[in-house]
Amino acid sequence: MHKVFSRFNGPCLDRVKDTYNVFTGLAKFHRPSGALFQKSAVKHPPPDLPEMPPCSFNPEEYKGMSKERMMEIRRQNCNPMTMKVTYYKKPVYIHQGHMQWLWDVDGRRYLDLFAGVATVSVGHCHPKVTAAAEKQLRKLWHTTNIYVYSPLHEYTEKLAATLPDPLKVIYLTNSGSEANDLAMLMARLHTGNFDVITLRGSYHGGSPHTMGLTSNAAYKYPVASGLGCHNTMCPDVFAGPWGGSNCRDSPIQTIRDCSCPQGSCTANDKYIGQLNEVFATSVPSRIAAFFAEPIMGVGGAVQYPKNFLKDTYKLVRERGGVCIADEVQTGFGRTGSHFWGFQGHDVIPDMVTMAKGIANGFPMGAVVTTPEIAASFAQGVHFNTFGGNPVACAIASSVLDTMEEDGTQQISHDVGTYLLTELAKMRDKYEIIGDVRGKGLQIGVEMVKDKASRKPLPPAAMSEIFEDTKDMGVLIGKGGVYGQVRECMDRRSGSSPLCVSPGTMQTSSWLCLTRPFTTTWKIIIRPGFHLVTSFR
Ligand SMILES: Cc1ncc(COP(=O)(O)O)c(C=O)c1O
Repeated sequence: MHKVFSRFNGPCLDRVKDTYNVFTGLAKFHRPSGALFQKSAVKHPPPDLPEMPPCSFNPEEYKGMSKERMMEIRRQNCNPMTMKVTYYKKPVYIHQGHMQWLWDVDGRRYLDLFAGVATVSVGHCHPKVTAAAEKQLRKLWHTTNIYVYSPLHEYTEKLAATLPDPLKVIYLTNSGSEANDLAMLMARLHTGNFDVITLRGSYHGGSPHTMGLTSNAAYKYPVASGLGCHNTMCPDVFAGPWGGSNCRDSPIQTIRDCSCPQGSCTANDKYIGQLNEVFATSVPSRIAAFFAEPIMGVGGAVQYPKNFLKDTYKLVRERGGVCIADEVQTGFGRTGSHFWGFQGHDVIPDMVTMAKGIANGFPMGAVVTTPEIAASFAQGVHFNTFGGNPVACAIASSVLDTMEEDGTQQISHDVGTYLLTELAKMRDKYEIIGDVRGKGLQIGVEMVKDKASRKPLPPAAMSEIFEDTKDMGVLIGKGGVYGQVRECMDRRSGSSPLCVSPGTMQTSSWLCLTRPFTTTWKIIIRPGFHLVTSFR
């Protein structure tokens, strides 16, 4: 058993009201009984510092390239973007993974709560999925859908069974961006309309077309990418202009007051009012589509007022548009209550796009739609060499089986609810935790300067917490376009709105947590900036 904590004692937090026990120790690593893991060397550890459980899995000895050489190659032979997006001032050099654990090249063990950006849905190298991949690799690596082969059909039948009628027609791709590109194309072909609306702050991909859907300056380039793409105000009931204490479908509500009479939601009405303004001013009377994630992922685990999607779908359909649920992050049981995020909003979209968790990290995506919408795609010919590749299908098929056998949706629900509840207790106690939200294991913790202003915690503070959490052996993600762009624009010298480089970390006001696979864990943010993680 070993202990993990994160401490923050940066000068930029002097203004914060709470006083804390500031641990000055740094993480140290050691190697007991052959298995490598890390233990914090804390000068004054509290008696109840939680402990990480042992792990019986022994990673192979690392015999690869040196860290220095990898970094040299990264600088010289990889596009500078690779360097720019590298997480952490002291990056993590990953060697091996097993279920919820990752080991670095020095044998340090990390609990991977970020799961390769919300992707490794059943666990790193899950034995059952690995066996399915190996079996298919020995039989047939590749052919395309111009031929007929069983893995594609076994998988599409299985995937279709997870979706309600009339969402039964599937096109397989290799990524979420590709899936959203196709969905946009199909929506335009089917409706004969062109204009598409998304939510401000959303991320739907980085391809030239999806860059138009994405509504986050950090991911935009000054090229013609967004023709016909518009956005409406994100109904963020914590940071947005309207919100109360009963708006969202989560065990945890905002700290904002609510004066809505029983059964009504003023915030929802106001955000729908914003959408109506977009209809009145920015798009023609007939539109092609509305895209939204059931819970906004990259944008910071933002949850909308309960009826927002239902009301929006109605308005969009009245204008001839189709409604598209981007389930790239929310799909495959991550929200706990349902297998698909849209089911938590009591809506049925006309199209669903998915990727990430679909194949536990093997590149894959899909667009699922109705027979009518799919038929309009047949006007021309679309071909995708790798989409629906036999290995991808065999893996994705095994992922669906594994999710059922391991009960991952129930785990997401149970562990997520517990985690949200514990995090909310910390939010009530500490000034810098502004909001805790989400469902299942799509959880966001919004860090703020103070609760009154709800302004983002400064980048330096976020960066230090983020780095410390990693040094203590826990990998989490960060997002929250609104906070990060605002912060980074304040301090940037000109070129990059994100300021991402190993020396000047991108920071934001969120810590996003993702799937824990099969281990039950709890995270407790302890006094001040001590983010203590415990596991059992
Ligand atoms: C909601 C959402 N949609 C689409 C994408 C794009 O997926 P990909 O990176 O596989 O192209 C992402 C990626 O983070 C995403 O979070």
